[in-house]
Amino acid sequence: TPQTVSIPVVVHIVLDDTSLVTAAQILSQLDVLNRDYNAANPDVSQVPAVWQPLIGNTRISFCLAQRTPDDEPTDGVVKVKTAPGQTFSIANGGADAKYSSTGGSDAWDHSRYLNIWVTRISGNYLGVAAPPGTGYPVEQEGVMIQYTAFGTTGSVSGVYNLGRTATHEIGHYFGLKHIWGDDNGSCSIDDGITDTPLQGDNTYGCPTFPKLDNCTNTAPGIMFMNYMDYTDDACMHLFTTGQVDRMRYVLENIAASLMT
Ligand code: ARG
Ligand code: ZN
Ligand code: CA
Repeated sequence: TPQTVSIPVVVHIVLDDTSLVTAAQILSQLDVLNRDYNAANPDVSQVPAVWQPLIGNTRISFCLAQRTPDDEPTDGVVKVKTAPGQTFSIANGGADAKYSSTGGSDAWDHSRYLNIWVTRISGNYLGVAAPPGTGYPVEQEGVMIQYTAFGTTGSVSGVYNLGRTATHEIGHYFGLKHIWGDDNGSCSIDDGITDTPLQGDNTYGCPTFPKLDNCTNTAPGIMFMNYMDYTDDACMHLFTTGQVDRMRYVLENIAASLMT
């Protein structure tokens, strides 16, 4: 059983109107993360019985930073007002949002904080991750989330309104791949996790269990309710123990300095 750890988070609100994302909205996102990463989400009960034994608990909790890198008191939120209508691309992991020189907000020390940038992302993308140890400049490490898919209140809308975009992106941050292996529908590439069923392609919407596909064509089928698929927020409910092992490996070996 892994040790219970807490990770300090800094949330960068990078918008033309920073009041669009309130403190309550930010806290609603932290609450979702703390439930989802501890298998304490109420909808974990909706995981099909056959997979209940696979439900993983990372024992990671997320807290808004209480001290800045310069050791001043903080609420863990940085607000940067952009030009009217300013959007940021997901190109290069969303790099432009991460530097004040390009209109964004500079990271806090990647070795001590999980940086979350919340902004208006162009092209209706929900989010993007720049995971540690994968070739990004260290000051770009973190996740970027569309402001309409962040938290559960305020500026959220549509079917990505339960905070699962951040759950998913932070899964990438801790080394998880998409559950279908990003191989465009084939069964050749898996996610590298042994307890997730092989899956052809991504799943949108909210399917009825069981759902079979070209890679897993016998019951119980594919695990479309996994956080690393593309289903609606209301229809994703678990990380597996295999995924948790991967995330803990990354945390303890690549991002160990984040643990407090
Ligand atoms: N498309 C995004 C990505 O690949 C995030 C998908 C999140 N899905 C959700 N239901 N919130 O990283
Ligand atoms: Zn993803
Ligand atoms: Ca596949």
